[in-house]
Amino acid sequence: MRNIIPYGRQFIDKFDINEVSKILKKDFITQGAVVERFEKKFANKVGSKYAIAVSSCSAGLHLSCLIYSKRKFKNIVTSPITFASTANAIFHSGKKPIFCDINSQDANISPAKLKLTLKNKNIGGVIPVHFAGNTCDMKTIKNICKKKNIFIIEDAAHALGSQYDCGSMVGSCKYSDITVFSMHPLKSITTGEGGMITTNSWSIYKKLKALRSHGIEKTNNSMKPWWYSMKYPGFHYRITDFQCALGISQLTKLRTFTKKREDIARRYIHLLKNTKNINLLISKIPKIKKSYHLFVLKIDFKKIKLTKTKLMNRLKKRGIGTQVHYIPVPKLKFYKTLGYNMKNLKNAQEFYNQAVSIPIFFQLKKNSQLKIIKEIKKIIKS
Ligand SMILES: Cc1ncc(COP(=O)(O)O)c(C=O)c1O
Repeated sequence: MRNIIPYGRQFIDKFDINEVSKILKKDFITQGAVVERFEKKFANKVGSKYAIAVSSCSAGLHLSCLIYSKRKFKNIVTSPITFASTANAIFHSGKKPIFCDINSQDANISPAKLKLTLKNKNIGGVIPVHFAGNTCDMKTIKNICKKKNIFIIEDAAHALGSQYDCGSMVGSCKYSDITVFSMHPLKSITTGEGGMITTNSWSIYKKLKALRSHGIEKTNNSMKPWWYSMKYPGFHYRITDFQCALGISQLTKLRTFTKKREDIARRYIHLLKNTKNINLLISKIPKIKKSYHLFVLKIDFKKIKLTKTKLMNRLKKRGIGTQVHYIPVPKLKFYKTLGYNMKNLKNAQEFYNQAVSIPIFFQLKKNSQLKIIKEIKKIIKS
């Protein structure tokens, strides 16, 4: 089969491989000193006080929701345009996800709709998702939530390298209590699988650290040096030293990675200028800096008289991989069975009808980009 240009892929160089190899030759390959070193460097990079590395962003979101699970509220609000694990984290913490509609321009949760949603008194928290690396309007979201004492966990799976309009990096928790990142291979940097949680709260940090490792905390007990305490049952959501060695090495390239994605996006924007029936995501806040995790086309399939399936299949035949981000979560069987629907989520439904993600990753060549856009234009005109 001929090579397909994927919609995303990791970039790992010989320096990354060398750093991982060094750890694999050591005595401690799991929870050694490298995890902590990575956490410190990550916190430093995004401007948070603390960082906790975990096995995935999904694990990080789960633990973050558990921080608040003893509070008496019933619901946590999130976006319908996200990966299932955002909603699943809420569900696994014993609360109910409520989906709030998005803005059509940037596919992020709409602050105006959030204000209406929060009229429901049983909401304890909000998880805004920085879709494709476009930061949500966090200033407004924070103002809305502050008045009601509602916590904020940012799902920043897509947004390592993104900045708010004030210049602070996503992860600094300037507008939130907790931020969670993914380091899955397609994300801004990778540790294979992996996640990172950031916070500025010492008590949240301490609790997350214990929850990551069975709820166990080491005690200094000279009478019983083997002793540890466990106040509540936690999980095994740890990450390894050799993954974190990869993470440290990848983090040194974050600026280069982001710059390359910006160049790729700029070229796509130029090539697609004035293309009928194709729109792009537009940030509601002009001054933000985006990670460009995804490059999403919003295609008016009704006007071009073609289905999304046909377009994606035709591109595949021409060696171009595409994907849809995301099937709105309320449409997934589990949530549908619980009674969720798209009734109040018109923008999310419209976005889902139109969205197709095209390739964006560090090694994507200019020629490939030209080919991708040429083929898309050819297909939609035919
Ligand atoms: C928005 C969003 N949240 C959470 C996740 C889960 O990340 P992970 O695969 O690291 O668990 C993803 C994964 O793609 C995602 O896109």
